[in-house]
Amino acid sequence: MFISELKIGDKIAKLPIIQGGMGIGVSLSKLAAAVANAGGIGIISGAQPGFKEPDFRTNNETANLRGLEKEIRKARSLAPTGIIGVNFLASVTNYSDMVKLAVKEKVDLIISGAGLPKNLPSFVQGTSTKIAPIVSSSKAATTITKLWLKKYDYLPDAIIVEGPKAGGHLGFSFEELKNNMPKLNDIIKDVVQAMKDFEIKYNKKIPIIAAGGIYDGQDMAEALNSGAAGIQMSTRFVATEECDAHENFKQAYIDSTDEDIDLIVSPVGMPGRAIRNKFVESVEAANEKIKFCYRCLRGCNPATAPYCITEALIASVEGDIENGLVFVGSNGSKVNKITKVKDVMQQIIEEAQNYLKKEN
Ligand SMILES: Cc1cc2nc3c(=O)[nH]c(=O)nc-3n(C[C@H](O)[C@H](O)[C@H](O)COP(=O)(O)O)c2cc1C
Repeated sequence: MFISELKIGDKIAKLPIIQGGMGIGVSLSKLAAAVANAGGIGIISGAQPGFKEPDFRTNNETANLRGLEKEIRKARSLAPTGIIGVNFLASVTNYSDMVKLAVKEKVDLIISGAGLPKNLPSFVQGTSTKIAPIVSSSKAATTITKLWLKKYDYLPDAIIVEGPKAGGHLGFSFEELKNNMPKLNDIIKDVVQAMKDFEIKYNKKIPIIAAGGIYDGQDMAEALNSGAAGIQMSTRFVATEECDAHENFKQAYIDSTDEDIDLIVSPVGMPGRAIRNKFVESVEAANEKIKFCYRCLRGCNPATAPYCITEALIASVEGDIENGLVFVGSNGSKVNKITKVKDVMQQIIEEAQNYLKKEN
């Protein structure tokens, strides 16, 4: 056996595969439970999880808390013995209340990025919930680790290292993404090295998880060879029967070519990766107007933001893929059919095992 299970504290996943959180509404209870049941770790997106609630616009914070609670409970009932987590953007305005609810609901893992989740340990100390920050460099990994140690005497339970090929918001500058793209496996090696001293000093293993552009077994094997304890995949899980997005969203992946996948500017100024469509062109032509503000993201000013990311993401996940924002990873064009979560996972593990066997 060349592929080991993934241990995050006392949580043990048979397969070292985490399904990345995909907001808004792309990864909810159905996808997360399917991944957990197949032996991986399923992650519910904590980005505006109340978007289906009738009072989502009028009572946004309460609707989101209610939506999140429903999704966690649904995932638990669909995968009673599986490992279920939630992904929260560190820059959302209702971060504390949402994290507290997830901890109260006893989720196994909270993954948090798009900014450093500086106070995340304060919500989980003394509970069974594990926490993992998302970083894009060894410098960020060291910064958050030192900060958590100093303020909370807490070492990350795992670290997700997201490289430049990921979908959604990206932790790199446009210059890096266009002209000088760092390699995920190089960043993995750096982070593994940077965490070694902490692991020895505090006698705690910090599994490093590779994310961004991992599509097949060879990608997985190479990440493991670089020192990763597991992988996080998102794009590959979108075109599955169990993915929570509208069928049109999945079809947009299947229909996409490399030329359709492009970098965009998110309203918070961060680069992101999405499918080029009517909406992206309209943003570029400065034709979009904000009609309503949810005040959901710190750093997003409705007076200057070019569009409302919440409205754009909800439109696409509900099926309007021309007038909404369709986030996708750089390997999105490789997706060519709808599959089942279990089959995707089995195939990747088999391929990775074969690749590693050949090497030995
Ligand atoms: C549709 C979509 C939505 C995403 N939304 C989020 C999100 O809300 N929060 C987050 O931390 N990452 C988000 N991501 C990033 C993924 O969780 C993941 O780390 C990354 O896409 C992995 O690369 P891959 O898609 O090539 O597998 C999103 C990715 C996609 C494709």
